[in-house]
Amino acid sequence: MKYLFVLLVLCSAIACKNTPTQELEPLYSIQKEYIADSAMVVSAHPLASEAALSMIERGGNAIDAMVALHFALAVVYPRAGNIGGGGFMVYRPQNDSAISLDFREKAPAAAHRDMYLDTAGNALDSLSIFGHLACGVPGSVEGMYVAHQKYGLLDWEILLQPAINMALNGIAATEREIVAYNKYMPQFAQYNPHTNAFVKDSAWQRGDLLLQKDLAATLKRIQADGRDGFYTGETADRIVEEIAKKKGIMTHDDLKNYHAVWRPVVKFPYRDYHIISMPPPSSGGLCLAEMLNMTETFNLQQYGFQQTESIHRMTESARRAYADRAEHLGDMDFYPVPMATLVDKSYAQQRIADFDPTKATPSDSVQHGEATAAESEQTTHYCIVDKQGNAISVTTTINSNFGNKIIVEGAGFILNNEMDDFSAKPGSPNQFGLLGNEANAIEAGKRMLSSMTPTIVEKEGEFFMSVGSPGGSKIITTVYQVICNVLDFKQDLKTAVHQGRFHFQWKPDILYYEEGIFRQGLIDSLQAKGHQLQSRDLIGQVEAIQRLPNGKLKGVADWRGDDAAIGF
Ligand code: DON
Repeated sequence: MKYLFVLLVLCSAIACKNTPTQELEPLYSIQKEYIADSAMVVSAHPLASEAALSMIERGGNAIDAMVALHFALAVVYPRAGNIGGGGFMVYRPQNDSAISLDFREKAPAAAHRDMYLDTAGNALDSLSIFGHLACGVPGSVEGMYVAHQKYGLLDWEILLQPAINMALNGIAATEREIVAYNKYMPQFAQYNPHTNAFVKDSAWQRGDLLLQKDLAATLKRIQADGRDGFYTGETADRIVEEIAKKKGIMTHDDLKNYHAVWRPVVKFPYRDYHIISMPPPSSGGLCLAEMLNMTETFNLQQYGFQQTESIHRMTESARRAYADRAEHLGDMDFYPVPMATLVDKSYAQQRIADFDPTKATPSDSVQHGEATAAESEQTTHYCIVDKQGNAISVTTTINSNFGNKIIVEGAGFILNNEMDDFSAKPGSPNQFGLLGNEANAIEAGKRMLSSMTPTIVEKEGEFFMSVGSPGGSKIITTVYQVICNVLDFKQDLKTAVHQGRFHFQWKPDILYYEEGIFRQGLIDSLQAKGHQLQSRDLIGQVEAIQRLPNGKLKGVADWRGDDAAIGF
């Protein structure tokens, strides 16, 4: 009898373990690849993709779809979607030149160079990563607002409605989301003694509704008053009250004075294509330019996808570009970034001239190049192409997963910890291991250097592809690899996005690769050249759209998340 009982318990335990994943209906329909005739949206959550597409169906354009998508992501994907953060848009209108919008966060007016150093001059990482002092002045709402003012077709109020509905009615949390909510629940509780949507008495279960009434009220204020619904009035009061609780420094004036900036894009030829990407305060466009320029004179295709010689060359290109990043890149409103030099093909050739095909160059012996300015773990990406052919590539972030973990009391949204993207002290790495110098030192009102790389590729003057990813420092190498996969290794878009990836960033001098993607022979041959290898978890989470030769659009969402592509 006793044995029968044990057997029954064992059988039911095995059944319990096996049943859920086998029998559960998917919460959402998620398409990783979609082919459409005229419009396409790819984002990190199927409900956000749907909200955006519905605006195009109503006669809106890509900008309208972007606004709906951005606010929807703040509700359905709170680990990175945001109104408390910032980002960059690269926009290529069908009948005009490409332009970028910088809605990156800024350092508050009271910020100063040594604000994260202790009395002995050591960097205190925790202050720039967690809590009230970690947060830069948010840019997302202003970014959406000015983009809509300039290009939008539909009424602003309409664009906010899907987000408001989802915040009020709740959305069912996916397996991936509940893992994140449960993991961060102790930190949410620690930093938010007030009642909030993320802290519950019991663990989050798949399908639980995330109800965000405070966030819905904030979104309604933005719906009614545009940017003023966030940067002034009740929302601003609540932000400033929240920040003041623990000696934060953001003020009403910081909020009121925040402005997004239209900037010329970084544009350069690569083989038969033109790459259009983000200028500083993102390092993405310039590093991508340097890496691709160093790759262009090397026949990647001949050596093959993820073969020793191609990985070696790509790693050595990244080594030199990231060394330049640390020295030369920062907010060009504050620092003379040598833009023209860094996109210059002959400069890239000088940088890679000491490339040794037989061995890795130790990072300690690679310094930044002599470029002068005389010429003058979470983020999310989305891509949209509308019926007119206007294309948008946006990367947005609150930096870490759930930013600084602070949910503004009564306003229901999470604040960023973007201040950690500054260089708190030369030689002291930030949370992504990135080093920086004078160019990215903290200054009042300055934008912290980013790696976000929203990118659009043109072929013969027409839209060819858009691509981008989260991943901190790994964003640039992720976008680089997807571009090389399509343009050099001639992979179809889904293969190019779903492939395993590697990453290298000068320092630390380690070539990272996603667990399991490199066979042992490849590891051995790279080590024989002197590369130090280390496996790690996933790299990037890419969204991409490509125009096919028959004129249709192919959207591809990464398998690494709940990301979904839809179109019509
Ligand atoms: O702007 C940047 O480069 C970072 N704040 C991005 C952070 C990020 O991608 C985290 N995601 N995994």
